[in-house]
Amino acid sequence: MKKVRIGILTGGGDCAGLNPAIKWVVKTALDERLQREGDTQYDAIGIREGWKGLILGDPAGPDFKEYVVPLSQELVRTWDRHGGTMLGTSRTNPYDPKNDLSKTVLSNIEKLGLEVVIALGGEDTLGVASKLSNAGVNIVGIPKTIDKDLPGTEYTLGFETALNVITEEVDRLRTTAGSHKRIFVVETMGRNAGWLALEGGESSGAYIILIPEYDFSVQRVNELLLAGRRAGNRYEIIVVAEGAKPAGGAQCAIRKGVDSFGHETLGGIGEALAAEIQEGTGLETRSVVLSHLQRGGAPCAYDRRGEL
Ligand code: F6P
Repeated sequence: MKKVRIGILTGGGDCAGLNPAIKWVVKTALDERLQREGDTQYDAIGIREGWKGLILGDPAGPDFKEYVVPLSQELVRTWDRHGGTMLGTSRTNPYDPKNDLSKTVLSNIEKLGLEVVIALGGEDTLGVASKLSNAGVNIVGIPKTIDKDLPGTEYTLGFETALNVITEEVDRLRTTAGSHKRIFVVETMGRNAGWLALEGGESSGAYIILIPEYDFSVQRVNELLLAGRRAGNRYEIIVVAEGAKPAGGAQCAIRKGVDSFGHETLGGIGEALAAEIQEGTGLETRSVVLSHLQRGGAPCAYDRRGEL
């Protein structure tokens, strides 16, 4: 029987849906009947902390045990019920021009005897996967990101769970917004993609949705809010994507600088917009940043099935 060792890792921002995907990769690879039928004996190892695990997972090195873990059917049996990633993750870029460690990754893949690397990730992690594939590594990429911003796929793991979080949180805000006749600006994640805000705003019935793909006018937003009040609204919910910006303005970022993939950490538009609305309309306005709550919690049914 042919022997094949596969390595699995999760990279980039965590989200719900990673653990179910790992579980079903392992269960399928280690299934005895499938192995017999394919005349191939698989074994699976988990690489911890994304690509960092393949930089530090040298079998002869001091960190091997910390970054490489054998995966069995028994170990992963209950993983599909849990959010986040049991393998850990990091935003490590082995091709970082300031510190290129791609040769170390290639050498460790060989030393570990990996025939295949299965990478669960978004644009950054799968971008690295694509470069490794060009360098001759057998790679399977599984798309995941709450942003749903990957080309070549209609769905990314984690998106639907994040939408459920947005919907539930806006439902909660409605009662307090209505009680106090307040406007709430709810900031979602999504980087430069508006999918989370758009579909989250639709499923929660937001009054206004603002996305990065279209710059908005604060004046128009204020007009619509005042029109809503004249029509009898007690309160309004605005869902704004973290990457949205007013026409002529700039995106808001939480801190200066970029990560090793060149991304800024976006955030802050909700609070800035709430202040402008309160000033422009005279209506009491609060903001809520959903932030990493959108990435947390147990995966919803859709993200457990992962029918991409
Ligand atoms: O890409 C997923 C994402 O959650 C984005 O929506 C967000 O901009 C970013 O990650 C936040 O990253 P971090 O986990 O580094 O705060």
